[in-house]
Amino acid sequence: MPKKNVVLGVSGGIAVYKALDIVSQLVKKDVEVDVIMTKSATEFVTPLSFQSLSSNAVIVDMFKEPKHWEIQHISLAKKADIMLIAPATANIIGKIASGIADDMLSTTIMATKAKVIFAPAMNTNMYENPIVQNNIEKLKSYGYEFIEPASGRLACGDTGRGKLESTDLIVEHVMSELYPIKDLKGKRVLVTAGPTVSPIDPVRYITNRSTGRMGYAIAEEARDRGAEVTLITGPSNIKEPYNVDVIHVNTNEEMLSSVLSHYESSNIVIKSAAVADYKPRTYSEKKIKKGEGDLSITLERDNDILRFLGDKKKDQILVGFAAESNDLIENASLKMKKKNLDYIVANDITSKDTGFSSEDNKVIILTKDGEEISLGKMPKKSVAKELFNIINNKKR
Ligand code: CTP
Repeated sequence: MPKKNVVLGVSGGIAVYKALDIVSQLVKKDVEVDVIMTKSATEFVTPLSFQSLSSNAVIVDMFKEPKHWEIQHISLAKKADIMLIAPATANIIGKIASGIADDMLSTTIMATKAKVIFAPAMNTNMYENPIVQNNIEKLKSYGYEFIEPASGRLACGDTGRGKLESTDLIVEHVMSELYPIKDLKGKRVLVTAGPTVSPIDPVRYITNRSTGRMGYAIAEEARDRGAEVTLITGPSNIKEPYNVDVIHVNTNEEMLSSVLSHYESSNIVIKSAAVADYKPRTYSEKKIKKGEGDLSITLERDNDILRFLGDKKKDQILVGFAAESNDLIENASLKMKKKNLDYIVANDITSKDTGFSSEDNKVIILTKDGEEISLGKMPKKSVAKELFNIINNKKR
């Protein structure tokens, strides 16, 4: 089999030296790497270092290497199985988002039909600048992928998001794109995500802080592994994943009826939604006017959707989530039994840098056979990957 090829685009920032490790790891995994550097990247690390590790000529200038012209120009765009831009600066992201192709790297990105993955690294304020964020969103909408930068102390002394994600994770991501696991082919996966809302009157409602990130990541991972995926989601700001059947709901009742209509035909059901357990006993058709004194709203129990599914379970694999602030394992195991689940993903919501609105999660996955698998803090997409590895009994 011919080797897979990664074209690594290196743009100029202090994290350039980390890209050397990416080349080294990929080469060790028998991947062929061609490196394109921007001029400013060469100010940080010489092309010779990349050339030595990749055993391939490094391309910097479009017009200076006529000898290798044929191999280098558009042909690299054709040769690439994946293009990885690491580190990706605000500049290269901005150029591609604006359709500018004025050097070898931007030209190749624009010319390739391969998947392009950006791993940004820059100062926090730059990364959070709405112009950069808009460029990222725009590129995502065209199908470009991003490996979000990590948080931490940056070279400039600031602390915040903007550090190049760990090279191990970047390499893992690239390898899973090069050799995708299709172990869910032929399976139907049903995922719920986000909060539900319980209306009080036409303008007010009760809801919770779930963003839907975990569920969307699960739906994307199932899709990538070949499943036919339905995602039933409460209100969320996250972009709908492609090739997933997305159904939007608001209330507990709507989620229940939508889930039920897909339950029978599903093989794996993952309920990551933060479903409201209570709703106002009466919904006021008219906006409630304020009076002089206090106001009480009586809440009544709403459906426990997962318990309902557990009771009706045939041969579906049923996975629940347990968001706990104390006695994590004990409470999660109780929920698994009570709701007749096969797995429960338990997370401690008191942890500051994981959980609800974070990109990361730190969970323990419990199996009905009494196994406890602790996963370290990792991006939600990786949690999703590990979850399916466990369900499919893959080596972790
Ligand atoms: N769940 C559900 N319907 C509900 C409440 C929860 O389907 N009305 C599901 C969630 O999607 C999740 C699991 O049950 O997979 C656990 O949710 P959680 O809120 O942690 O547990 P509860 O059963 O509501 O228990 P408690 O709120 O008392 O901790």
